[in-house]
Amino acid sequence: MRRSKAFTVFFMMVTLMFTMTACGNENEQQTTDLSKNEMTANEDGEDTMKNEDPAADNILVAYFSATGTTKSLAQYAAHILNADSYEIVPEDPYTEEDLAYDTDGRADREQKDSSARPAIAGGIEHMERYDTIIVGYPIWHGQAPKIINTFLESYDFSGKTILPFCTSHSSGLGSSDTDLHPLASNSKWLEGRRFAAGASREDVEAWLDEMKIVSANTGKAYSFDLENRKVMLNSGYEMPVMGLGTYSLSDEECYDSVTALLEAGGRLIDTAYMYHDEEAVGRAVRDSEVPREDALS
Ligand SMILES: Cc1cc2nc3c(=O)[nH]c(=O)nc-3n(C[C@H](O)[C@H](O)[C@H](O)COP(=O)(O)O)c2cc1C
Repeated sequence: MRRSKAFTVFFMMVTLMFTMTACGNENEQQTTDLSKNEMTANEDGEDTMKNEDPAADNILVAYFSATGTTKSLAQYAAHILNADSYEIVPEDPYTEEDLAYDTDGRADREQKDSSARPAIAGGIEHMERYDTIIVGYPIWHGQAPKIINTFLESYDFSGKTILPFCTSHSSGLGSSDTDLHPLASNSKWLEGRRFAAGASREDVEAWLDEMKIVSANTGKAYSFDLENRKVMLNSGYEMPVMGLGTYSLSDEECYDSVTALLEAGGRLIDTAYMYHDEEAVGRAVRDSEVPREDALS
């Protein structure tokens, strides 16, 4: 009877875990819906942001893409992070002829001209809302297109974190990221990443994870890492997804519950001197195969 009560407590914890997981799935759904966070230029050339949720505002994915490759990766990033995205649109759009490289066409000439600053149509009204800017661009002759210079010189990025990425036919990132640093010298620049044309959403997700880019929006789709039974908190800390509260459990119930938790792979135990159950918790941990240092309390 006492044993079954202990297991009831434990299974309540497991239920909580699945409830949290279900919330994660809902959020994933939400991130898909929020793909419409994309800013678009209105009739006056001013960009408007469809997302009204201020919690989603800490990250902006800004990108220039002449033929759509960079755009699709930027959109993956925005969806994964539930972030706003902003397409850097040239006032004078590039034609196929302009883009034909090694022809001394418009793009070729701009890349050779250190003072070239192609104008951007529209702009971002509230850059101060963002603390992290992900900047995407295609490699043009080993460098970021000059319109990225225009973008970086158009706003005050002081104190913001900038994470660049690029796509290219075959070139690596090269110095295309570090050459941009002087254009926003008071920012914290993270190391850039080059993606090939066929890069997947999973590639982008793995990169954002590696770079520890965390959205303030609780809808971040990859908060739950069920394989490793961890959840990323908005603070950036990782917490085990499954745990046990031992308050009010009697000696034997506590021992059985902790044993069941550890056997199921849980490592987070809430215990305290005031609960008068530390001895039972300690005994259960000692009797299990789990190293003491792996059990968190
Ligand atoms: C003017 C111009 C110059 C380019 N220079 C390079 C280059 O130096 N190295 C490279 O691998 N690809 C180069 N490319 C190819 C693009 O980087 C590649 O196709 C990119 O993924 C296109 O991205 P987008 O579709 O977002 O515009 C160049 C393309 C253009 C239009």
